[in-house]
Amino acid sequence: MRHLMSPLDFSVEELDKLLDLAQDIEAKPEKYAHACAGKKLATLFYEPSTRTRLSHEAAMLNLGGSIMGFSSADSSSAAKGESVSDTIRTISCYADICAMRHPKEGAPMVACQHSSIPVINAGDGGHQHPTQTLTDLLTIRNLKGRLENMTIGLCGDLKFGRTVHSLINALVRYEGIRFVLISPEELRLPEYIRHDVLDRNSIPYEEVVRLEDAMPKLDILYMTRVQKERFFNEEDYVRMKDFYILDREKMKLAPEDMYVLHPLPRVNEISVEVDDDPRAAYFRQVQYGVYVRMALILTLLDIPVDQQS
Ligand code: CP
Repeated sequence: MRHLMSPLDFSVEELDKLLDLAQDIEAKPEKYAHACAGKKLATLFYEPSTRTRLSHEAAMLNLGGSIMGFSSADSSSAAKGESVSDTIRTISCYADICAMRHPKEGAPMVACQHSSIPVINAGDGGHQHPTQTLTDLLTIRNLKGRLENMTIGLCGDLKFGRTVHSLINALVRYEGIRFVLISPEELRLPEYIRHDVLDRNSIPYEEVVRLEDAMPKLDILYMTRVQKERFFNEEDYVRMKDFYILDREKMKLAPEDMYVLHPLPRVNEISVEVDDDPRAAYFRQVQYGVYVRMALILTLLDIPVDQQS
């Protein structure tokens, strides 16, 4: 039985296969409409979510399966003090696969150690968000036609942004990847990722504070929101929250073939006037999130699919 805790749980070859499957699903959705008939997905969300929970549910429904779950800790027996390990033992009696989001780093890992069904990490604290990374990889590959030889700008809250941490871990395995890390000093990428992931893999990167300085050299600009829920005090959040605002003026500095991604939700960091720019790809990214989660569910449930037919 396989779980998904980190993007590194899949080899590059396995990831390529998963992304190929997602592309086939996009092209021929009817072929997969009953692939999960009789299967149940449980979504166990101890933290708020719109996209991750509903896209997992949409994915299972598109595959002909069924869904159940809770969308906040308050509406589950966690509010009465039930542990994650007891909860997953219980859910294993009801469902065939589950997706868990939790504010504590490592909680989905605890779940998978006590689970008899595949567990998908749907985001754990400031640590990892592997299904967002699968979404990002599929989006980049579809937009640019490759995952190699690219300069990726990561902008905003690089300290607490788990989507950024997961994406860096995944992309360093491809040839010719360079990063421009765009953040205020206080929200720099954590030292353990700079050292253990970037330096250890000899990945070229530079750190800049001004978004304008980075824009002309990017193939992808990955914007992130400042993670209010991870700040210790409101004052620091208020000081940081509007540090970056991508607007039409700044987009003039970007190459014609640079795409803007954002895991969403957006707060103020991308002005709505950018939404009509053909390079704004964040809502296309949302759609890719459904295809890739369909591919993930099929893969973790080991449901055979023939991409040739
Ligand atoms: N991208 C993402 O994780 O969005 P949600 O918080 O809405 O799930």
